[in-house]
Amino acid sequence: MKSILLTGGAGFIGSHTCLSLLENGYEIFVIDSYINSSRKSLENVLKILKKKYNRNLKNSLNLFEGDLKNVRDIEAVFQKANEVNKSIEAVIHFAGLKSVSESMAYPLCYWENNFYGTINLLKIMEKYNCKNIVFSSSATVYQTKINQLLNERDKCSPVNPYGQTKLAVEKLLKDIYKSAPSEWRIACLRYFNPVGAHESGLIGEAPFGKPNNLFPQITKVAIGIMSEIKIFGSDWPTPDGTGIRDYIHVMDLSEGHISSLNYLLKEKPQMITLNLGTGKGTSVKEFIRTFEKINNVEIPFSFVERRPGDNAFVVADNSFAKSILSWEPSRNIEDICRNGWNWQVMNPDGY
Ligand code: UFG
Repeated sequence: MKSILLTGGAGFIGSHTCLSLLENGYEIFVIDSYINSSRKSLENVLKILKKKYNRNLKNSLNLFEGDLKNVRDIEAVFQKANEVNKSIEAVIHFAGLKSVSESMAYPLCYWENNFYGTINLLKIMEKYNCKNIVFSSSATVYQTKINQLLNERDKCSPVNPYGQTKLAVEKLLKDIYKSAPSEWRIACLRYFNPVGAHESGLIGEAPFGKPNNLFPQITKVAIGIMSEIKIFGSDWPTPDGTGIRDYIHVMDLSEGHISSLNYLLKEKPQMITLNLGTGKGTSVKEFIRTFEKINNVEIPFSFVERRPGDNAFVVADNSFAKSILSWEPSRNIEDICRNGWNWQVMNPDGY
């Protein structure tokens, strides 16, 4: 039997994707350092599956604590998979550091984890003849445009070290693909703004420390852990003056991974780059108002200066992803607000 390795599989997007993979009958290996994630996320994935299907899938989920900076940690997983006759067929590579502001303060750390870690992973994949990979990239690689949807052929020019590391890995993957185009199957998935939580409320986003992103802050204000949202700028060239983003429900994103993986494994070797977004923009003010209405709570906010490096409008043209994958986001902003709030209420302190 073949299996899928998820690097960083205990994190926010990784844990939701584990759930979708297990639901679709895949055998999974996970390597995670747990520096920004919790073991409990995957315990809860098993709880969700037990409740929904009355099946214990513990034996289909093989967990390894390890860091991609240590090549031996990676090799241990591939070796074990071979030993138990479940060799790794493909990798979904989530592991990486992801805070824009932190990346500006600690660029070396970001390059070491995100780039060097990927080099180690690819070395071991080659050694074990595993040549199928889905990579977590980001919309942050694009040079943004005013009020226009971003498509995969648009110019890339990231403005922070985090984005630079994502683009560098995409380029590395391109070189690897070109070295053996009849062997490699590679998908770079450019995520827009992943938010929300699984409807069970058992898994969700649990940032350590004060969150930087908008949505976890909204839920923290709603529950009283934070007093208000500081909106970065009221004078953006958008209808209500606040920034517009493409918020995608984490379950739609996780299903996008399954579709990408299925596509890669059934088609001829190739490299594809896909935007995973909804194609719909929501402003900060609209998001806050929707959350208030759906959940009947109040979210106080005030305006502060624009945040350096921010843009008015970052929204995906997702037509390419929709056309080649049998995938389309099916959840809206209301679902995001409902499910994200449920997760926060059920887990006020995270995992
Ligand atoms: N915002 C506020 N106040 C806050 C936080 C955010 O007003 O306290 C605003 C931002 O200005 C922006 C919107 O809310 O208009 C969304 O901001 P986030 O920080 O939630 O998300 P970003 O769009 O800045 O960045 C996210 C991820 C990045 C990823 C990028 C891709 O955090 O990792 O999307 O476009 F690269």
